[in-house]
Amino acid sequence: MSKVSIALPEGFILGAAASAWQTEGWSGKKTGQDSYLDLWYQRDRQVWHDGYGPAVATDFYNRYREDVALMKQVGLTHYRTSINWSRFMLDYENGVVDEEYAGYIDNLIDEMLRQGIEPMLCLEHYELPAVLFEKYQGWSSKQVVEWFVQYAAAVFARYAGRVKRWFTFNEPIVVQTRVYLDAVRYPYEQNTHTWMQWNHHKNLATAKVVQLFRAQGYHRQGGSIGVILNPEVTYPRSSAPHDVDAARIYDLFYNRVFLDPAIKGEYPPELVALLEKHQVRWDYTDEELTIIRNNTVDEVGINLYYPHRVKAPSRAWNSATPFHPAYYYEHFELPGRRMNKSRGWEINPRIIYDMAQRLRLEYGNIPWFVAENGMGIENESQFKDADGVVQDDYRIAFIVEHLYWTLRARQEGANCQGYMLWAFTDNVSPMNAFKNRYGLIEIDLEHDRQRRPKKSADWFRRVRDAGVLEFERDDENK
Ligand code: BG6
Repeated sequence: MSKVSIALPEGFILGAAASAWQTEGWSGKKTGQDSYLDLWYQRDRQVWHDGYGPAVATDFYNRYREDVALMKQVGLTHYRTSINWSRFMLDYENGVVDEEYAGYIDNLIDEMLRQGIEPMLCLEHYELPAVLFEKYQGWSSKQVVEWFVQYAAAVFARYAGRVKRWFTFNEPIVVQTRVYLDAVRYPYEQNTHTWMQWNHHKNLATAKVVQLFRAQGYHRQGGSIGVILNPEVTYPRSSAPHDVDAARIYDLFYNRVFLDPAIKGEYPPELVALLEKHQVRWDYTDEELTIIRNNTVDEVGINLYYPHRVKAPSRAWNSATPFHPAYYYEHFELPGRRMNKSRGWEINPRIIYDMAQRLRLEYGNIPWFVAENGMGIENESQFKDADGVVQDDYRIAFIVEHLYWTLRARQEGANCQGYMLWAFTDNVSPMNAFKNRYGLIEIDLEHDRQRRPKKSADWFRRVRDAGVLEFERDDENK
């Protein structure tokens, strides 16, 4: 064993994240203010683990003061969440703000600032208003892009003086991939054209919001505007050209489709050619591409949980199946891989270092940070000690390894500004609900959602106070 000690750089973010819909609950929500998630939950309650969903979530809407006090106790420098678009407005088309919900956000921001925790806010973490989903098929519509920009303008006008770091979307690829590409979520429609249309309109929405942010002069007040993406670090099974091609094409469809427009201002020509080859129809104009080109983001948050591995396909494609990027790849399971069995995700902390290198070499070393990383564990109460505190040594070990690779990348020149854990408290996930627990703070569903710090919360506080990550490492060459 040898001791590793690595200092957190000055100003390094050591925070945690969550989202509005996964924590707030429906208290105070008015008729007509459902989000896409609320709609899906109402229609399809049986697919949500144990019936839990966004209805109560962690009741953050009523208990945020208690939670902000816990953030301070745990030592978070920053906390990221979203504003719930579906609740911020009473009328999405005419831009009528719900003063009651907006007042709650005012109070939340003030409380965080009072406790010395810097807020980072996302304009959408899947909370597309259900009405816009049903009437206009959501992001299929160019009009919805305009209403999103109108919503962003109202949000900035109200809060940009107090909140400096803004993000348009969290993981903008997720909803349409699950709904329109894989057809595993309500309303279960496989339609590759719609999938690509949503991708494009979300890229356009980011660029238009960046344009607005600049035009309104928020940068001069110390503000910045970015997007939170979830590129999957994708490794080919082997170095053979067919496997390498499979990984490259996977990367184009799932990673570069958002990374490139956001950071470089354009779609990869190879992706555009593949979409054309497979007759995927998406409606875009030269003017829209120019807006994307001229309005790239200031920084990106990157959500990193697991490596993805692919190999070249070994089966023939059924020509009756609509085009799906899986035409070019199959998933590959590495023999001997380490697993988080609760979530079914491989664990490989080097993904952070590899992503850092990529952002340095291929994306102009843009400022970025790990926006989410964490470990969801099922049936976590089995790890409670006699005092009822979850002894989550596995989570501490997971964070240690991932934070280590983050800091090492930074030492070697990555422009990485910080590390944020998913999540601050346990919370509701799409379908998995409260099955896998991610938090530093337990939410006890059996006792009125009582909050109880886990062992990792205390450990997190100590790292923050010491300003250094220290651990014993197994010597590699045994
Ligand atoms: C991220 C999302 O992809 O992963 C979160 O931004 C989500 O909303 C988190 O909760 C963990 O994934 P899951 O499915 O285990 O909740």
